[in-house]
Amino acid sequence: RLVGLDVGTSSVKGLAIDPDGTVLARAERAYPVATPRPGWAEQDPELWWAAAEAVLAEVGAADADGIGLSGQMHGLVALDRAGRPLRPAILWNDARTGAECDEIERRIGRERLVALTGNRALAGFTAPKLLWMRRHEPELWARIAAIALPKDYVRLRLCGELASDVADLSGTLLLDVAARDWSGELLDALEVERAWLPRVLESPDVSGMAYADAAGGGGAAAGAAGAGGRGAPGAAAGVAGAAGGGAPGAAEGAARGAGGRRGRAGGVPVAAGAGDQAAGALGVGAIGPGDPLSVVLGTSGVVFGGEAAYRYDGAGRVHAFCHAAPATWHTMGVVLSAGGALAWLKRAFGEVPIDRLLAEAAEVPPGADGVLFAPYLAGERTPHADPDVRGAFLGLSLHHTRGALVRAVLEGVAFALRESLLLVDPARRHDVARLSGGGARSPLWREIVAAVLDLPLELCAIPDGAAFGAALLGGVAGGIFADVPSAVAATVRAERTVAPRPDWVAAYAPLAERYAAAYPALAPLA
Ligand code: XUL
Repeated sequence: RLVGLDVGTSSVKGLAIDPDGTVLARAERAYPVATPRPGWAEQDPELWWAAAEAVLAEVGAADADGIGLSGQMHGLVALDRAGRPLRPAILWNDARTGAECDEIERRIGRERLVALTGNRALAGFTAPKLLWMRRHEPELWARIAAIALPKDYVRLRLCGELASDVADLSGTLLLDVAARDWSGELLDALEVERAWLPRVLESPDVSGMAYADAAGGGGAAAGAAGAGGRGAPGAAAGVAGAAGGGAPGAAEGAARGAGGRRGRAGGVPVAAGAGDQAAGALGVGAIGPGDPLSVVLGTSGVVFGGEAAYRYDGAGRVHAFCHAAPATWHTMGVVLSAGGALAWLKRAFGEVPIDRLLAEAAEVPPGADGVLFAPYLAGERTPHADPDVRGAFLGLSLHHTRGALVRAVLEGVAFALRESLLLVDPARRHDVARLSGGGARSPLWREIVAAVLDLPLELCAIPDGAAFGAALLGGVAGGIFADVPSAVAATVRAERTVAPRPDWVAAYAPLAERYAAAYPALAPLA
């Protein structure tokens, strides 16, 4: 039994799977996001831990062969010397750090920052939040003893280890993404203390042991008693610490060997894990350049491609991050409002049932009868990195129906995904993508996206991709799989393919050009 945990923005989700990928158990515990001021988004890390503890118990984690962690990326958890959060975590979708992003690009130079981190300074990332704390909360800043990403706080409580993985750390703006380790140059330039930073591991490495004192029982987690306490069994805690990119294979072997066994009485090995997008990509089988792309229609939309080497866009229009398999990277485009745009429209129409709206949209031909939607409801990340631009319907006339507006939203999101695709896979090397996320349940949206991207879309039957990918990493840490590619090969299967309709591909090609012309017109109007 392998357990994967996804510490999300709205809930913790857990899965227990068999080594052949069969789902044995699923659990979820929700919590709210606090918005103490407009544009802010915070969460008490204790909410994550309480939810994680309950979910882990429900899916039988104490009896697992391995546990993997994934979670919302970029969030800043600032800890005191006892490992207690100094303030609520500042989340990935918090927009308070515009001035700090400018400061980072000034201090380091935008070109150099993009070369080192694969990214521009974006408001949601971790480093700008640290600078914000230094400026606005100096008394708390002075008490920082350690920092963690969201899932890494759960690890601290679960096994008493302060550690993280290169995939999630790529979203901090403090990692040298090519070297897969902290960047001394960035730490110096931003005056961030090295002593605060978690150990850097590869995603499938053993980061510590959970339930080490539970002797196979379903009791509380070993390291949980005192946050930040070094409660984990000495051997695993010590040797799994191949910090700074030490040989992952050796660390894993040593950690497993030290206890003479894995799991249960010796504790359950906990994999370093990955940020939710990288873990989710593993969950659909997107690891390297020869694998399918991953396309996600969640609240946000994502186009994600595995890379065998570090490759970044010089202008930082698309993210370049370490991937969750050693020696792999990924390029990722993010459309901030995808499913979120459809949810907005549903609310705006007075909560009309979504199936009715989609049925009305299906009656309208491709091109939405001339209506074009720009989905910039919360600004846009790829390719514009513009938090200020706002959305629009263009081309409205008196005869347009509700169905035309819904169809325009589905199409506008697809056009936005196409702009990400052009940067993630400029040479169009990939001939197939795997589609996941809530929006993938709509047959109409699937067909629109397939036609706009001109790419066959395969569907997998995985309920929670990030938790599934995390479980696979737990399986490698627990010795059930030799490495990440074999974990994916043993468990991930595509169930069916949505082929692009040639007549729709032809209809959408000129409209994608019209969509591209909308941003430069809208940006100055925001
Ligand atoms: C990735 C990103 C989101 C968050 C939220 O860059 O911001 O995927 O991880 O889930």
